[in-house]
Amino acid sequence: MFERMREDIRSVFHRDPAARNSFEVLTCYPGLHAIWVHRLAHWLWCAGWKWLARVLSNFGRWMTGIEIHPGAKIGRRFFIDHGMGIVIGETAEIGDDVTLYQGVTLGGTSWNAGKRHPTLEDGVVVGAGAKVLGPFTVGAGAKIGSNAVVTKPVPAGATAVGIPGRIIVKVDDEQEAKRQAIAEKFGFDAYGVSQDMPDPIARAIGQLLDHLQAVDARLEGMCGALKALGSDYCAKDLPALRDEDFAEVKVEPVADVRGD
Ligand SMILES: CC(C)(COP(=O)(O)OP(=O)(O)OC[C@H]1O[C@@H](n2cnc3c(N)ncnc32)[C@H](O)[C@@H]1OP(=O)(O)O)[C@@H](O)C(=O)NCCC(=O)NCCS
Repeated sequence: MFERMREDIRSVFHRDPAARNSFEVLTCYPGLHAIWVHRLAHWLWCAGWKWLARVLSNFGRWMTGIEIHPGAKIGRRFFIDHGMGIVIGETAEIGDDVTLYQGVTLGGTSWNAGKRHPTLEDGVVVGAGAKVLGPFTVGAGAKIGSNAVVTKPVPAGATAVGIPGRIIVKVDDEQEAKRQAIAEKFGFDAYGVSQDMPDPIARAIGQLLDHLQAVDARLEGMCGALKALGSDYCAKDLPALRDEDFAEVKVEPVADVRGD
């Protein structure tokens, strides 16, 4: 239990630059108090002490301004910054390393019993005042902008803003990593060449890198098959690219050969 509490305190330092020392964090962070009260209330809830669990959770709400239903499932290193006005519904599920700011609602849109609140996967950040409403999933690492109202699933790694929430960035981390790897292999600095670049040249370079990566993967497969058949066709390394080949080439202006 104490290890979990130490972990909670460490997560405050990781995510709030204003935190100065452990004593301050322990005494001045209502988010932390709310999580600790919730853990106890959730334990009571699961043990069948429903009324006691609700009373305890209501006490936590008086103390912190954060309302977490004791039935909500919350993972590790959950961080609530400022906290006031947060509401987390009964069937909400929250993964590890999730961050919520003040005024967030993880609510439902129906009065039917059963799953009616959202699931936030690991590493999700929900900005101040945002409302996430309904029994859908916000994928790992996604961000919800402050004051957004989100009523539909958000893919992993994406950022949703506005009312109704719309996705502004959809990052395919795996594809980006492959693109970066192939760019490095060819001595090309792909920094800033991502899928969502509006620059047509950068997008074209991105597509070429994807294509090269696909060709490279196919060649590697063919080389593997040839090797298995006893061929040493792929034994030799490809010629290395030299930095000089990418050096800036100064182009002298062509003299005007036309007569006056
Ligand atoms: C949504 C958020 C995570 C996006 O951060 P980011 O990935 O760095 O994105 P950017 O700031 O580059 O913004 C990208 C675009 O979204 C817009 N945008 C950002 N946040 C927005 C929001 N909350 N609502 C509407 N639009 C928003 C920006 O204006 C920008 O639009 P543009 O491309 O037309 O210029 C961030 O803006 C946010 O709201 N974080 C929550 C922080 C918070 O609540 N802090 C409370 C501290 S007390």
